[in-house]
Amino acid sequence: MPEVFRRPLLAAELAGRLLQPGVLDEGLRSGLFLSGLRRTGKTTFLRTDLVPELEARGAVVIYVDLWSDIKTSPATLVQAAVRQTLSQLVTPSSPLLARLRRIKGLDLGGMGFRFGFQLDQLGEAGGVTLAQAFTEVVDQSGGDVVLILDEVQQAITTEEGNQMLLALKATRDAINPRPGTPGSFLFLGTGSHRALVSELTARRNQAFAGATSLPYPVLDQEYVRYVLERLRGEGMEPLPSEEAAWTSFQTLGHRPEEFLRALGQLRLSTSSGLAPDQLLPVIAATLRGSAADLELLKVEQIGGLATAIFDRVARSDGPARGIFSAEAALSYGEAIGREVRVEEIQPVVNELLAANVLMRLGHGLYGVTDPFVQEIWLERQR
Ligand SMILES: Nc1ncnc2c1ncn2[C@@H]1O[C@H](COP(=O)(O)OP(=O)(O)OP(=O)(O)O)[C@@H](O)[C@H]1O
Ligand SMILES: [Mg+2]
Repeated sequence: MPEVFRRPLLAAELAGRLLQPGVLDEGLRSGLFLSGLRRTGKTTFLRTDLVPELEARGAVVIYVDLWSDIKTSPATLVQAAVRQTLSQLVTPSSPLLARLRRIKGLDLGGMGFRFGFQLDQLGEAGGVTLAQAFTEVVDQSGGDVVLILDEVQQAITTEEGNQMLLALKATRDAINPRPGTPGSFLFLGTGSHRALVSELTARRNQAFAGATSLPYPVLDQEYVRYVLERLRGEGMEPLPSEEAAWTSFQTLGHRPEEFLRALGQLRLSTSSGLAPDQLLPVIAATLRGSAADLELLKVEQIGGLATAIFDRVARSDGPARGIFSAEAALSYGEAIGREVRVEEIQPVVNELLAANVLMRLGHGLYGVTDPFVQEIWLERQR
């Protein structure tokens, strides 16, 4: 059932708050961050509902997923996406220009945009800055530009990423306060790591201090009703009640994939003699942890030392520090029953970072990438 449950009202509400903010939403102009747990549908919502809604309102939208390739730096990914959009804007026959002509009545006399720079100068030393490029886009399109960074917390893990966030802030400050600006530069970030995403807006030395941070609105009971409706259409029976299904969806952390898996298991166990409303909660409770299993398996496969390091980071309240210390080496040694030399730690941490189970949070600071995986790990250690 890969069909997507659409959320047009939510998209319209958010798009309205971003593009036509009321007095109380002016703050969103400084940047908006949405945070929500893994696999709860953030990317799906952005791509199938929010981006089309923003585009239908005449905005130029650039979407970049910073996790699409964690080996490529966030700055490089953003530059590539921006260049791609700019090259559509200079191409008279591009779908993007066709849409701007249709929605905004933009008349370029059969031409594309004309920029006062070469596209390949973007981001080059001494070349054109993001602020200059986006100022031209806003002025020539006569409207808003929205840059969406999915998994934005990835940007604060490197110096280069932080520089990019500062460049985005500079872009905002170069465009939005101009009297009579025909449009604004709006920045929307999402992330799986609530603490980190909040950090982005709360810490004074972060580029987006003062921006708004909101929880991603998880799928609600309407989604559950939609799924049950579709199953009814397929003739599945007996079906659980909406209440039981909704409770199980909540147990599963509002994750569509886990929910469908639970319903699939329910269908296979109709012969057990238990009523669906009794069975489904049991299945949901069992499946709850399975979402984390794949990630924890990666740790196990890297080895025992990796597991000991992961454990130390997971247990730490807030960012873990000192994971390379002699004291840490000693405790890893105790955990795995052999002596651990300090030099052994770095390569294993590098592997955990490459597998994206741990992330660097700052100088000498580390955290578990997915807070849900951390929660399940801690639950199991008790
Ligand atoms: N509105 C929806 N209707 C149906 N299925 C959905 C919906 N939203 C998400 N899903 C399903 O849930 C799963 C996770 O969705 P998605 O990748 O959008 O979540 P995410 O929060 O961005 O995850 P990640 O943390 O991996 O980035 C996908 O299998 C997707 O098909
Ligand atoms: Mg995603």
